[in-house]
Amino acid sequence: MRDQMEWNQQARNYEQAQVKTDSLDTLIEYPAQLRAIGDVKGKKILDIACGSGRKALDWINAGADEVYAFDISNQYEHPWACEENKPTNLHVFQCDLNHFSAHALLEGKTFDIVTSLQAVGYGANLVNIFKQIRKSLNPNGVFVYTTAHPMRYAVERSEKGDIGLAEAYHDKTPYSYPGVWNTSATSTVAPMTISERVNSLIEAGFVIERIEEPFMNPDLATKYPHKYEWMRKYFGMILYKARAPRDG
Ligand SMILES: C[S@@+](CC[C@H](N)C(=O)[O-])C[C@H]1O[C@@H](n2cnc3c(N)ncnc32)[C@H](O)[C@@H]1O
Repeated sequence: MRDQMEWNQQARNYEQAQVKTDSLDTLIEYPAQLRAIGDVKGKKILDIACGSGRKALDWINAGADEVYAFDISNQYEHPWACEENKPTNLHVFQCDLNHFSAHALLEGKTFDIVTSLQAVGYGANLVNIFKQIRKSLNPNGVFVYTTAHPMRYAVERSEKGDIGLAEAYHDKTPYSYPGVWNTSATSTVAPMTISERVNSLIEAGFVIERIEEPFMNPDLATKYPHKYEWMRKYFGMILYKARAPRDG
């Protein structure tokens, strides 16, 4: 399975890079994700493509009732299985997001919050994944998902070839690039415009509540100029917050 091999190669480097105090996840992405997720006390949460499960554990520590978290990489499940102090209400397992709702551990379960942070873009059919997520949510449940901003790939593509920025933004061919966290690996995404993502949420029956494009404030830009140098060109991430309808 290509996705799994690609991500297994990057898993350890990815986690080491993310936890750094000056990573974009620490400075910009996770704070924005937490603002959108809101209070987790007493909530049942599903984290899709959770990476190490570090964020899922944070939510347990913040009072979530139960968190299910899965990833395609087999690098994450095993350490948790060996962790003696793992909270009993945290469930980390290996699963493919493309057809996650068929997994035995999720059968018959519904959630107050579903998250997919920097991950859904790696799936094959967005509407199909969103429909599974919608069915996994309780009425009025929240879905928070973030991806790399589509302009990031557009800028990269237009820099690499003789292609205009708008043309690159609308180019649908899968885009492969050297792994950010392990350059001998490759990451592949199916680029999508913002309108395609929004329309996919609507098609799956979601009500869109908020879209955010967090950027570095001047204080952070001064303190972390090496990060600002990247962000001022490549945008960073985009966040979508959507809800399942109240009437289910
Ligand atoms: C950029 S990381 C984000 C990890 C975590 N959500 C976070 O915010 O730190 C993307 C994750 O998606 C996972 N992934 C990629 N394709 C997947 C798939 N088909 N099913 C489940 N997880 C997948 C990778 O293994 C990786 O852990």
